[in-house]
Amino acid sequence: MVMPILRALSRRQFVVGASACGSAAALALSKGGVASAAIVGDEPSWTLDSPMVTLKDAGQTPGILVGCAVDAARLRDTPDYAALVRSQANIIVGDNAFKFGTLRPTIRAFDFRDADTVADFAHSNGMKLRGHTLVWHKQMPAWFDQHVTAANAAAVLTSHIAAVCDRYAGQIHSWDVVNEAVEVNDGRPDSLRNTPWLQLLGPGYIDTAFQSARKADPRALLFYNEYGLEGEDAGSAAKRAAVLGMLRDLLKRGVPVDGVGIQSHIMAGHTYGAGLREFIQSAHQMGLRVMLTELDVNDRELALTTSYRDSAVATTYDRYLRVALADGYVSGVITWGITDRLTWLDKDKDAARIDGAAQRPLPFDAQFSPKPAFVAQRRALKQAPTVVPVLKRRTQLLVETASAE
Ligand code: XIL
Repeated sequence: MVMPILRALSRRQFVVGASACGSAAALALSKGGVASAAIVGDEPSWTLDSPMVTLKDAGQTPGILVGCAVDAARLRDTPDYAALVRSQANIIVGDNAFKFGTLRPTIRAFDFRDADTVADFAHSNGMKLRGHTLVWHKQMPAWFDQHVTAANAAAVLTSHIAAVCDRYAGQIHSWDVVNEAVEVNDGRPDSLRNTPWLQLLGPGYIDTAFQSARKADPRALLFYNEYGLEGEDAGSAAKRAAVLGMLRDLLKRGVPVDGVGIQSHIMAGHTYGAGLREFIQSAHQMGLRVMLTELDVNDRELALTTSYRDSAVATTYDRYLRVALADGYVSGVITWGITDRLTWLDKDKDAARIDGAAQRPLPFDAQFSPKPAFVAQRRALKQAPTVVPVLKRRTQLLVETASAE
């Protein structure tokens, strides 16, 4: 079988570098005035050499799992898409297949069709599988508000987790048990987001979720997954501190958390640096695994020129990954999709471009041809230091660190 990447190359070879990037005039005026001038003029050249080397190959040198979120329906009906995922990924995650709303059309019924598609695809191709996500305030089923009360919420939560984790037990590398539970602007001293689960069960819903998942599938690694941890701005710094505080408290209480997922929905042209690196170091020191779980690069602040956007997006991949992978503490890099044809950014009104043009946030374009972002990601993976084994958790140290603060 012809590899998709080779087929793509025979159609279009690319060399994109400083010459193709345009000038500072190509910059769009961004909302917050966040200029991407820093990335103009000093871009490396993103030449696609050695086209047969895939993203997952590149990750093998440092020992990093590499993969993407997948669309279950497209895996079923678009063979070229399935082939592209197969060629690039050794770990996959359903983009929507394992969410509460997808799995639970009614309070009693389960619909495992999409989740089974994703799990079977991972299994038949020897890939690892992530489960995303057991507890989240979004994409909840329509019946939730009507049927779930303070009296039955704990049972709904634990029975959902038990049923879903049990069905896929032994097949899951890692579960995003709880997604996006921190929101510093919701005004609570503990910085927890004011979600339906919090309102019904109090902060203990997080403990309950991890404990239920551990019980149902003791072999899966259990992750807390979060966005907005990446930037150098004050908001990101506050969120990082809040998430680390929450994780430390969970571990002190003996809640079975194995890792933290940094979603990594990042912005083309923005700077990522010490704050992100220190967060990863702190998580590692706590004995947690760290994965980049939903990486993509939003180009909504850039002018429309395709070559300019592709180069800027690639540069952002390069710089972000070099920071995140610098210490060898990140053991997986997962993009939220593999092809621009299926990016969520165009569907989300806060993320989409104002001019309505399609975003170009992923390593392959809408026709499945590799882009400069592919070259950048592959090179950053290949050059990353070897992954460091996770530290044995020392609960006592955590207690001491916390009381010294
Ligand atoms: C997105 C899906 O990709 C879209 O198809 C869906 O319409 C909305 O959700 N953070 C997450 C993911 O944790 O679950 C989201 O996935 C993207 C943002």
